[in-house]
Amino acid sequence: MIIVLFGKPGAGKGTQAPLLAKELKVPTLATGDVLRAAVKAGTRRGLEAKAFMDRGDLVPDSVILGIVGEELGQPRYAPGVLLDGVVRTVPQADGLAKMLETLGRRVDAVLVFDIDNEEIVRRLSGRTVCEKCQTPHMGREPGTACEKCGGRLVRRKDDEPDAIRTRLRVYEEQTAPVLDWYRANGGRVVVVNAVGPVDEITARALEALGL
Ligand code: AP5
Repeated sequence: MIIVLFGKPGAGKGTQAPLLAKELKVPTLATGDVLRAAVKAGTRRGLEAKAFMDRGDLVPDSVILGIVGEELGQPRYAPGVLLDGVVRTVPQADGLAKMLETLGRRVDAVLVFDIDNEEIVRRLSGRTVCEKCQTPHMGREPGTACEKCGGRLVRRKDDEPDAIRTRLRVYEEQTAPVLDWYRANGGRVVVVNAVGPVDEITARALEALGL
C-alpha cells in the first residue's frame, strides 16, 4: 500500500505519519527529514538543499526524485510506504508514477489534510522541534527539553514568519495543482478535516481510506 500524505506546511502530515504507519504496518518516508539529516551531516545534497529549505522554497525535483528513487528500491518498503512531504510538484507526481511503474507498483491513495491558513500560521509559529528525535512540540520555548527523548528543542528556520509566507505561497502555486494531476490520471484523492484532536484525525483518516 502506497499512500501520499498531502497538505499545506503544518497541516499535520509529520504528526499523523507515524500514527498511521503503526496502524497500517508500513514504514514512512519523509523527504523533509531526509533533507534535514543531510543538512546536519553536511553532505553535498544537504549543502545544495539548505538555502532552499531555509527560505521556504522547494528543493529541486531532481534532488527529491533522487532521494525517493534510492529509498523505494529498498526491501523494507516492500509492504508499502506512507510518503510524507512528497509529492509536492507535478513533475514529482509524474516522476514517482514512472518510478513505481518500473517496480510494478502505483500510488493507492493521496490523503489530503485539509486546514486553513490561519491555523497553519498559529501552528508553525508556535512549534519547536527536537534536535535529536525531530518530534514537534507546541507552545514550548527553544532551549527546553524534548518530552520524548530529552533532546534540545529548536525553532526551524523555515518556521520564521517570512518563510511561512513563502511556504504557503509555494504550496498554492506548485503543490495544490498536484491534486488535479492525480484526479486527471485516475488517482484516488481522499480529503480529511485536519483540525481537531490528533487521535480523532488519525481515526478520520483511516475511515476515509476505508481501512
Ligand atoms: P517538510 O519537513 O516536509 O515540511 P512541511 O511540509 O512544510 O511540513 P511541516 O513539517 O512543517 O508540517 P507537517 O504537515 O508535517 O505538520 P506537523 O505534523 O509538523 O519539508 C521542509 C522543507 O524541505 C520544504 O519546505 C522544502 O524546502 C523541502 N522539501 C521537503 N520535501 C520536498 C519535496 N517533495 N519537494 C521539494 N522540497 C521538499 O505539524 C505542525 C505543527 O502543528 C506541530 O507543532 C504539531 O505538533 C502541530 N499539530 C499537528 N497536528 C495538530 C493538531 N491536530 N492540532 C494542533 N496542533 C497540531
